[in-house]
Amino acid sequence: MLLSMLLLLLPLPTPWSIRGHPLYTRLPPSTLQALSAQGTKALQAAQRSAQWAVNRVAMEIQHRLHECRGPGRPRPQAPLLQDPAEPGSCGQRRPSTVNVTRAHGRIVGGSAAPPGAWPWLVRLQLGGQPLCGGVLVAASWVLTAAHCFAGAPNELLWTVTLAEGTGGEQAEEVPVNRILPHPKFDPRTFHNDLALVQLWTPVSRAGAGAVRPVCLPQGTREPPAGTACAIAGWGALFEDGPEAEAVREARVPLLSADTCKRALGPELHPSSMLCAGYLAGGIDSCQGDSGGPLTCSEPGPHPREVLYGVTSWGDGCGEPGKPGVYTRVAVFKDWLQEQMSAAASSREPSCRELLAWDPPGEPPADAAPPCAFYARLCPGPAVACARLAHQQCLQRRRRCELRSLAHTLLGLLRGAQELLGPGPGMRRLAPSPARPALSLLEPPRHPSREQRVHPGSRAAGARFPKRRPEPREEANGCPGLESLQQKLTTLQGTHAWILQVPSEHLAMDFHEVLADLGSKTLTGLFRAWVRAGLGGQHVVFGGLVGLEPATMARSLPRLLVQALQAFRLAALAETEGPQMGARQSQGLGRKGHPPLSPQISPARGP
Ligand code: ARG
Repeated sequence: MLLSMLLLLLPLPTPWSIRGHPLYTRLPPSTLQALSAQGTKALQAAQRSAQWAVNRVAMEIQHRLHECRGPGRPRPQAPLLQDPAEPGSCGQRRPSTVNVTRAHGRIVGGSAAPPGAWPWLVRLQLGGQPLCGGVLVAASWVLTAAHCFAGAPNELLWTVTLAEGTGGEQAEEVPVNRILPHPKFDPRTFHNDLALVQLWTPVSRAGAGAVRPVCLPQGTREPPAGTACAIAGWGALFEDGPEAEAVREARVPLLSADTCKRALGPELHPSSMLCAGYLAGGIDSCQGDSGGPLTCSEPGPHPREVLYGVTSWGDGCGEPGKPGVYTRVAVFKDWLQEQMSAAASSREPSCRELLAWDPPGEPPADAAPPCAFYARLCPGPAVACARLAHQQCLQRRRRCELRSLAHTLLGLLRGAQELLGPGPGMRRLAPSPARPALSLLEPPRHPSREQRVHPGSRAAGARFPKRRPEPREEANGCPGLESLQQKLTTLQGTHAWILQVPSEHLAMDFHEVLADLGSKTLTGLFRAWVRAGLGGQHVVFGGLVGLEPATMARSLPRLLVQALQAFRLAALAETEGPQMGARQSQGLGRKGHPPLSPQISPARGP
């Protein structure tokens, strides 16, 4: 019943017949469009993960070089920030940005902060979607609100975008390695609404321009009520309003616990919450600002900003009598220090660590990272413990692999499902129970108007500029450097196809999917030719496609993966010569292919 309802919503493809030949059908433009949107997302994800992989090894090379050159010799880069932040290296704002924010401004209603004004302010994204603010407190640590992760505690889905520089450079996006919500966070009351997020790669000054950590309070003392502090974020401009496009900032006075309690009642737990704002209303943080900073400046010869609050909740936004509520950072000082200085082996390896781990064929004689954690409590001899730890590591890694695969597929499937719901451009048909799924609404088109696709044909055209290879450092006398450099070269080579595509061209375009109606498989799919483009490059490949809502949803993720694969092979063939091109990809060109012709029999899907 549900299926037949869905069938009625399915846009009609364009089938045609040739006398004595099987029927072919094209997927309609709306489906191609939705497929293209999903493909573009898949491409973006592929480019991001390629970049992470390459950056990670480049970073290891920098560390290696630094160790080899030893103290006293010049470092390859500006020094990494201290982890945890040392006083003196934190809380510094650029002088030119300081005055601008003093006079006025609010997040609700809003005035924009100048670029680079809040070097520690970062953005937390779930599956690419910005959800919360965060505060850089050390090279690899971001402090934010625990409630941001409610329902989505999987670190593989989160990334952090660092504050943009003063020159408006593109902000760097870093994957999250680990999420540590405060163990006593209560999602009902927002008690202890604090979480530490460990970044996959530490922030370096050279790499991230104006990015700098804020100072954490030294003791448990907080500035007195009435102190004018600052809030910043990308949150809503007013309650239920749109999110800000640029960072906004405001000055808000701290309120005493008494005032706050009177205003907000029993929901306020002063032991972990503090209030800031105006009882008159009008200036406040709002939805989307959560996890962002409430900082107060500490005067002195070198004034510094110290983080006393993390945006947590409010009753509306900027309403009279309802100040904003912030998690008190000073009371969590010990927990924060403990977490940030804990030895790596004291924590179970994260999924990201395990997925990046290249397990040796044989367990090592001594438990090594990332598996050392599992050998910690092992009472037996070292060799036996190392073996055990290795096994446990492999087991957990397998679970992580499943989790990551499940999420990728779920994401793709969700996209496919959305695609099949009624949307703009989809035709709703009059119900007719006896109507077949596909009917010949349009007159048959003669295939001779179509041109043949020449497998392996290549045409000249615009090319994406190739990236210059990274300069090689002298590997002499630095053990391990050579193999790291080799790893980097290999990675750059295997990912070149996607890294070379400038982000403005990173869009997948499904031009045509032509299904052979006479080729239904046992699983209800049809053999099809797919013609797709990426930037100036075009590929044609054979696959299987469903023509009913359920089967179509099932077949689309695979088509996306095949398209990615086809582009990769096409790019490889380009670099390796025309011979390879003809062998490896079924069709490839820079100018684009003519429409697919039913004269060519669609390839059997893998
Ligand atoms: N909970 C909100 C968020 O998730 C922050 C709300 C702050 N509200 C306020 N009135 N100060 O972004």
